[in-house]
Amino acid sequence: MIYLDNAATTYYKPLEVKQAVNKAMNLYTANAGRGAHKLAQASAEKVYETREKVLKVFNANNHTCIFTSGCTSALNLGILGSVKQGGHIITTYLEHNSVLRPLEHLKSLGKIEYSVLDDISIKSFERAIKPNTYMIITTQASNVTGERINVNEINNLCKRHNLLHLVDTAQGAGHIFEDLSGVDMIAFAGHKGLYGIGGVGGLVVKNNIKLQPILFGGTGTFSESLIQPNTMPESFEAGTLANIPIISLGAGIDYVIKNKKYIIEKESRLNRYLSQMLNNLDFITLYYAKNTTGVYSFNVADYDSSFVSDYLNEKFGICTRSGLHCAPLAHKHFNMQDRGAVRVSVSSDNTFYDIKTLEIALKSLVR
Ligand code: ALA
Repeated sequence: MIYLDNAATTYYKPLEVKQAVNKAMNLYTANAGRGAHKLAQASAEKVYETREKVLKVFNANNHTCIFTSGCTSALNLGILGSVKQGGHIITTYLEHNSVLRPLEHLKSLGKIEYSVLDDISIKSFERAIKPNTYMIITTQASNVTGERINVNEINNLCKRHNLLHLVDTAQGAGHIFEDLSGVDMIAFAGHKGLYGIGGVGGLVVKNNIKLQPILFGGTGTFSESLIQPNTMPESFEAGTLANIPIISLGAGIDYVIKNKKYIIEKESRLNRYLSQMLNNLDFITLYYAKNTTGVYSFNVADYDSSFVSDYLNEKFGICTRSGLHCAPLAHKHFNMQDRGAVRVSVSSDNTFYDIKTLEIALKSLVR
């Protein structure tokens, strides 16, 4: 098989991650933070180590990492946990449903209003600010086109206007190495570019931000109280933590930090090769982003995107994603909401042979 669906999750995990999972299954399966015995303490220490690694990968020095089940829960926590009655939020057409649906939910309850920008220039963000605006939410890179957003420029704007800034790094973490130390809330997925196994993500929150919990239950602290305590990060992590995915994430981050130069160079060469290849095929409609992270969406002649994806899978063993990629406004922006698009997404584990095979497969379809 040729795996070109890294935006959904990375399939090839580094050997170090597999070894860490294996070791964790033998040594760290006790409940971290629930018990003072040696085995629980050993698990808790590994969880703590991973929290520190998460902060390091985002250069988030004045933040705390709250572990969640994934990036979707992290975004829900960031949006619902910071809601301001009567407030206004600015976001973009590139966002995933894990941003758009919580926003729509809050709007339907009459709690907030929000604006979706089709123009992602800094001027457009500035123009959209209203007296009741309290937060800007953007992705770091689109899961449909790979388009990157200038997070630091937006962060400066947020600081000038005293707005909260929430960034969705689901597609950026492990691919884009930028300093996010100024961002108030960074939502991340553990299982994509950071190479952990599924089941963990998190919200990295600046220490001066006051969030309200959105999940209630046992925290292993203040157990006599019926009221959810207010301590970071435990109050936001009710229930048993996912030790093994968390430990795998720690090993994945070590791998990413150690191989950063290789990842950047390899992905940029694959990107150039892939974008040139797709641009040169005259039967391809490419929904192109100049500044992509290695995610490309396209359609082939008049074929339905699911048909193309199935063909690539069945005849050539190439894994892609088709249809709508949980980001409906991005599809609408490119006027492809009816048939969606075929999406290919690379990681540094891909080869030039993978892309060449994709080219041969696409040509064979229209021949
Ligand atoms: N959000 C993931 C994707 O874009 C699953 O495929």
